[in-house]
Order: sequence, then C-alpha cells, then structure tokens
Amino acid sequence: MAGCEAEVKKISEIKTENDMENYDGYVFGCPTYHRDMPQAMKTFLFLANKVGLEGKAGGAFGSYTHSGDAPKIIFDTLEYVFKMKVVNLGSLNVKEAVVDAPEYLKACHDYGKAIGNLVEETAA
Ligand SMILES: Cc1cc2nc3c(=O)[nH]c(=O)nc-3n(C[C@H](O)[C@H](O)[C@H](O)COP(=O)(O)O)c2cc1C
Repeated sequence: MAGCEAEVKKISEIKTENDMENYDGYVFGCPTYHRDMPQAMKTFLFLANKVGLEGKAGGAFGSYTHSGDAPKIIFDTLEYVFKMKVVNLGSLNVKEAVVDAPEYLKACHDYGKAIGNLVEETAA
C-alpha cells in the first residue's frame, strides 16, 4: 500500500457529506448486535449514500461473537447500493475472541494492503 495514507474517523465525527468528501477509498466497520447493524451505522450509511461514492474503493469490517452479519450487510450496501469498487476479499469479519491474536493483525494488514492496491487501481 505504498503511497496511501489512512485516516480513522468515528461515525459520530461525520456530520455532513462534506466530512466524507475527497477520499479515494472508504472502509466502514461496526459490531453486530442482534444479527444487525447498530442504528447509528444505518443512519450513517444514509448520509454516505448522498456523498456519491460510485467507483471509489470500498471495504467493510467488524467484530462479532457468532454470526457477524453487520460487516457483510455493509459490504453488500457498498457494492450494490453505492456501486463502489469493493475489495475482492469480501468483508473483514473479526471474531472478538481472537481480536488480539497475531492472525487477526495479519488479516487486518492484508486487508489494508488489498484496499491500498485497489485505491491505486481505481484512483489511477
Ligand atoms: C446484546 C448483544 C447482542 C449481540 N448480538 C450479536 C449477534 O447477533 N451476532 C454476533 O455475531 N455477535 C453479537 N454480539 C457480539 C458483539 O458483536 C461483539 O461482542 C462485538 O465485538 C462488540 O463490539 P464493541 O465492543 O465494539 O461494541 C452481541 C453482543 C451483545 C452485547
């Protein structure tokens, strides 16, 4: 992912579409509660829909204990609703029990690299 810089923001910091403009790629994440996304993430995705993310690089992640639905729902939204260029790894679903394990860190690094490569391809 040489040449890419990442900025991490909480969704509570993103108040308007302007706060999301001018990035080449977006990776959204949240935990799964009751096999669903928290309401705050749903509200955020309606805001993101107004930004115009078509063709931008995209990915999704989230921690979970057993079903891990939310990252997949986000990923599908990026692909089919926002029409983003989603990473071919699918969503990064991280079991809470292994969140500190080296395999998890490696999975995160690999995901970041894949997003970086996609950003370079799509922004070129
Ligand atoms: C009330 C409640 C409901 C949950 N429902 C699910 C669920 O449906 N599927 C799942 O995989 N994990 C579920 N979890 C586990 C959370 O997704 C997991 O603990 C996650 O890592 C929490 O992230 P956070 O600490 O950032 O909130 C639930 C946890 C709680 C407390």
